[in-house]
Amino acid sequence: MSDDSIGTSPRGTPTGQLPVSPNNPCPFLRALVANGYVGGHVVPLSQIAEMVGLASGETGSAQRDVRIKTRMVAVIANGLGPFSVLKSATSGAVLDELRDGPLDKHGGGSRILDVDAKVHEDEIARLAGFGKDRQNPDGGTERGLTADEIDAFMKANLKRDGDKARWYYPMLMKGEWPVLLKILGKGKGSERYLSVAEVRTLFVERRLPDRITARLPKPAAGR
Ligand code: HEM
Repeated sequence: MSDDSIGTSPRGTPTGQLPVSPNNPCPFLRALVANGYVGGHVVPLSQIAEMVGLASGETGSAQRDVRIKTRMVAVIANGLGPFSVLKSATSGAVLDELRDGPLDKHGGGSRILDVDAKVHEDEIARLAGFGKDRQNPDGGTERGLTADEIDAFMKANLKRDGDKARWYYPMLMKGEWPVLLKILGKGKGSERYLSVAEVRTLFVERRLPDRITARLPKPAAGR
């Protein structure tokens, strides 16, 4: 099975969610848009930074650090030219125009989402293959990836991309899966892992776990 039936058309949108453009390839931002935490088009950098900062669960200067880093990513997401950067800084990032932007690795990533924003289950199974069954702090066991396993996964993604992978992709990738592990991870230290089941929910249902949404303000629209 390669595709999932939950697409991005309003018809395929799970009840209560807002449709998300296929030109937004970021699973984390897709969940924020689908559930009304941020709009789907032009979103002020301060708003994106606030949501990511709150979702991180950090407080004080650590949260300020997350917010600054998020702004730095978002300000170049729609283009590296001075006009694009100025436009992003003053009006916001255009979340439905991220595809083909400077952050788009064109297949150098997991390939879980394709250009039509369809989810490829076989790629989720590939991700799971890099992990191990782990003791879930909430009970039972589940498949998950530690930081080292995520690193191996990202390296394999670049290798798969062959000559197409650009030199700066490893830097971009540091802000994706490792940050997702930081936010969603369960357990502590080197044993902290990213649950494959939660990754699947994020990509397929565009939903963050309740323990994360509990950190966010009530969404403005769409629930
Ligand atoms: C907490 C904040 C964020 C997390 C956890 C996160 C996580 C991720 C993950 C896991 C991927 C998938 C990579 C893959 O499939 O291999 C991704 C892709 C992407 N993200 Fe984010 N992201 C965050 C914030 C942002 C922001 C602020 C932007 C820009 C405004 C952004 C833009 C993108 C883009 C353009 C891609 C596609 C890159 C590719 O080609 O794989 N993300 N992100």
